[in-house]
Amino acid sequence: MTSLLIDDIGELTTNDESLGEGIGGRLRDAAVVIDGSRIAWVGSATDAPAADERVDAGGRALLPGWVDSHTHMVFAGDRTAEFEARMAGEAYAAGGINVTVSATRAASDEELDGNLARLVAEARRGGTTTIETKTGYGLTVEDEVRSAVVAGRRADAVTFLGAHVVPAGQDPDAYLDLVTGPMLDAVAPHVSAVDVFCETGAFDEAASARVLEAAARHGLATRVHGNQLGHGPGAQLAVAHGSLSVDHLGFLSDGDIAALAGSWDEWRRGAGVAGTVATVLPACDLSTRMPLAPARRLLDAEAVLAIASNCNPGTSYTSSMAFCVATAVLQMGLTIQEAVRAATLGGATALGMQDDGWTDPRGEAQPAVGAIRPGARADLQLLDAPSVTHLAYRPGMPLTAAVWRAGERVV
Ligand code: NIG
Repeated sequence: MTSLLIDDIGELTTNDESLGEGIGGRLRDAAVVIDGSRIAWVGSATDAPAADERVDAGGRALLPGWVDSHTHMVFAGDRTAEFEARMAGEAYAAGGINVTVSATRAASDEELDGNLARLVAEARRGGTTTIETKTGYGLTVEDEVRSAVVAGRRADAVTFLGAHVVPAGQDPDAYLDLVTGPMLDAVAPHVSAVDVFCETGAFDEAASARVLEAAARHGLATRVHGNQLGHGPGAQLAVAHGSLSVDHLGFLSDGDIAALAGSWDEWRRGAGVAGTVATVLPACDLSTRMPLAPARRLLDAEAVLAIASNCNPGTSYTSSMAFCVATAVLQMGLTIQEAVRAATLGGATALGMQDDGWTDPRGEAQPAVGAIRPGARADLQLLDAPSVTHLAYRPGMPLTAAVWRAGERVV
C-alpha cells in the first residue's frame, strides 16, 4: 500500500470537532496522510509524518468529498421542453416523470450505463466522492431490476423508488400491490433502501405507509420524498417509520420541523438509533421555482440537515454540489460551514455511512465517509481557493483542483 502526505493545507475541514475548531472541525496549516484507501493521520503540518508520496496543497483548502445523498441518475432522454415551459410560467407536476419512464424503458442497458457514467464523471469533476442513486424511471419489475443493477455498478448506494408515480394507464391499487409485492421482492437483493414519493399526484399517506411497511419486512432502510409540492404528511410519516431521511421539504409546518428535530432526541442522549435527516435540495427548488426549503429553521430547531443535488432530468438537471452549497448560503441563510457540513457529513448520515461498516452495492464493507479523520475513507477534495468560504463568495466558479476517492486520485 502506498502512503500519501498532503501538506501545506491552508484550511482543513475535518468535520470532527475533536480535531479542530467550530462545526467544521477546522485546522489551519494542516497535513493529512492517506494510507491505501483510508485516512491514516490528520494534524498540524509541522508534525506530519513522512509518506511515500507528497502533494503540496500550496496553502489551499482541503475538505471531505461531497456526499450526494439524493440523485436519480438512471434514466434516458431529456426534458428540455418541459423546463422551457416551466420557465415560461407552467407549474411542475409529477406527471412529467412518465416522459422519462417511456425513454428509460426504450433504452438499452448500455445506454443507461453510458448516461450514468457521464453523470458520475461530471459529479466527480465537481468534487463528489459518494453518490446515492435511485431507480424509479422503469416502473415495471424488469425495468426496475435492471435500473438497480445498472446503478449498483457505479453508485455507492442504490435506492428502490418503484413508488415514484403510478405509471400512465395503470390502476393505482394494482400498481401499489405490484410495488409492495413482486416488484420489491425482485429488486430487494440489489438495493439498500426503499423510497416513496408521498405527494398529491403520486402516493398518498396510506399508500406511502404501505411502501414503508413493505420495506421494513425486507429489512431495508427507508427514505421519503415529502413536502415538495405542498404541505403534506411526508415529513412526519418518515419520522414515524424511522426513515433515514425525508427529502425536498419546501413546505414544512412548525410541527413537521419539531418532529424532524425530535427524532434525534434519544440519539443525542446516547440512547438510541439515529433519527431522520432533513435533506434539502436547493437546485431542485430553484429549477422548479418552488419555495426554498427552510434550512435555517431546521438547523435552528436542531434537526440534522443534508444538502443534495437531486440530479435528475425533470426537476434538477445538475450534479453540482458546489452550486447547492452556494445557494444554501446565499439564499437559505446557512453559514458556509453549516452548508459544507450538510453536503458532506450530513449526506453521509442520511445514507447511514457516517460510521465504518456500511455495505456498498458490491457487498463490500466500507469505512466511514463525510469526515477527514483517521480510519475514514480517504475521500477528499482540494479547492483552488484558500478557504471553503470561496464556494459561496465565488459562486459558479470551477474551484475543484483535485479529488481523491478511497485514496485514489480521480480528478
Ligand atoms: O425528486 N419528486 C419526485 N421525483 C423527482 C422528480 C423526477 C422527475 O420529475 O423526473 C424529484 O424531484
